[in-house]
Amino acid sequence: MALLKIHKFPDAVLKQPARPVENIDGALDSFVDSMTQTMYAAPGVGLAAPQVGDSRRIIVLDTDHENLGKHLLKLVNPVIAEGEGSITWEEGCLSVVDFTADVERFEKVLVRAWTLDQKEIEIEASDLLAVALQHEIDHLDGRLFIDRISRIKRELYRRKRAKMLKEGKADGMPPSAARI
Ligand code: NI
Repeated sequence: MALLKIHKFPDAVLKQPARPVENIDGALDSFVDSMTQTMYAAPGVGLAAPQVGDSRRIIVLDTDHENLGKHLLKLVNPVIAEGEGSITWEEGCLSVVDFTADVERFEKVLVRAWTLDQKEIEIEASDLLAVALQHEIDHLDGRLFIDRISRIKRELYRRKRAKMLKEGKADGMPPSAARI
């Protein structure tokens, strides 16, 4: 199984809203397995299809790296049905090299999604899983966590990244904190 290439900011595919999946069939399984392996290999706790250059509404998450695979989620067309409270988490992203920032999001969410065996499910989540679900669904809407921080911080990162690219450091690793 081949690992997929993770696209990094400022790659245009990350800004593009992803389209809903209209058919869940066997053809998705191997792609989603490759996404999962790519997430684990990175390593990260979540990955959205646009990050591997595929603009469809598919995400994978596993926030429990102590018991790898036990709580793995593979979700198609996920939506946040409800959110409440607020929590600030230091986020990083496999598509945002060498940068983390505090981001405020809902503390608890109710997410509706489809599974690969064509069941519609609801997931109640809090803390890191809630943060990760919101972060991944943002990816599906063409939004990165750096779009949720102050303009000044974002601009500083944009310049730092431009300098890195100029110096040929395109593929540095994101810091270890919460790679989502
Ligand atoms: Ni991310």
